[in-house]
Formats: sequence, structure tokens, C-alpha cells
Amino acid sequence: MITELTYPFSLPPLPYSYDALEPYIDAETMHFHHDKHFQTYIDNLNTALKDYPEYQSHTLTQLLTELDRLPPELQTAVRNNGGGVYNHDLYFDLMAPPGQKIAPSILDFYDDGEEFWSEMKTAALGQLGSGFAWLVTDQDNNLQVLALPNQDNPLSYGYQPILPLDVWEHAYYLKYKNLRGDYINNWFHVINWAEVEKKIAQSMIPSAS
Ligand SMILES: [Fe+2]
Repeated sequence: MITELTYPFSLPPLPYSYDALEPYIDAETMHFHHDKHFQTYIDNLNTALKDYPEYQSHTLTQLLTELDRLPPELQTAVRNNGGGVYNHDLYFDLMAPPGQKIAPSILDFYDDGEEFWSEMKTAALGQLGSGFAWLVTDQDNNLQVLALPNQDNPLSYGYQPILPLDVWEHAYYLKYKNLRGDYINNWFHVINWAEVEKKIAQSMIPSAS
């Protein structure tokens, strides 16, 4: 994962073919989103870190976790572009061709997939303008759904990121136009549940007893 790497960052390949998520996410959107938008966040993050050698050995996860301790002029660039790199790396990794079964751990917290998705959808639709709906783990090992603006990352708010649903227009506008709700409904079919399950397990803090 790029999240544990350090400067200079480079674009990871898409972990499946560009048309693998059809008919829910079209190949043209995937080309633009991965090859152009994701690449731009990477280029901008590298440019921002170029003049800060003392932060070039920090992983992306460290930079976002310690965001409020960075020099103010670097902070904004890391929030927007470091977040953009982290969030997109996870977004593309947490999608997979349709057909997977829901992660069992989700059902420890929600009655069924429908209840979980209705919370994600409410968060995603309620995010006015650009941003993400997130499934996260909080410090008490509970799953929570949040909406965060722009490229803000849950690490900067004390949460462990699990599943990011990108609701920037660039994620859906070519196919869905203004119908964000249709994109959200369809996105449920391309979640990489095996990876969600792994991330939930990794995010749980072991109890001290
Ligand atoms: Fe995006």
C-alpha cells in the first residue's frame, strides 16, 4: 500500500482491469479517475514535500496522522494532496468485480447490509459538494460512518479508515451525471468485502487485559 511508503510517491497500478467494475463503474471513468485525478494528487504531494526534506522519510499514514503538527504551509498541501493520495489508493483497492459476499464483521454492528448501506448513503448524500463517506473504526473499536469534506482523511480526526466512498463528481459524473444517488446505490455492488474484513480486523486495538 502506498499509505506505508514515503516520498517520492508514484502511481500504483489499478489492481484489476479498467472495465472490471462494469456495468456499475464504466471503464472511461476509471481511466480518468485513476490515471489523471489520482496521478495529479501524487504529483502535487511530491511537489509539496520537495522543499521539506525533514518530512520525506515520513510515511503517508504518519503525515496524515500528525497533520496538525506539520508546518502550516505544508499542512494544507498534505491535507488536500496527501489525503487525495491516501483516499484514492484505498478507494481503488476497496473495489472489486461484483459478486462478493458482505464482510461478516459488518454484521456484528449492523442488522444487515441494507441497514449499513442506508447509513453510508445518508452520509454520502448529505456531503454537500466534494468529499467522501467513510466507514471507520473509532478508539473504542466500534464501526462508525462519517462524512468528511474534500480530501480530509479519518486519520487526522483520530479514526482508522476502512472504506471510502468517493462522492466527488469526478467519481461518477461521466456515467451518472447529476444522479449521485444512483452511483451510490450501484457502488454497493463493487465493494471489495474481503479487503473490508481484513481492514476491520487490522484496525481493532487489542484490549489491554
Ligand atoms: Fe476521486
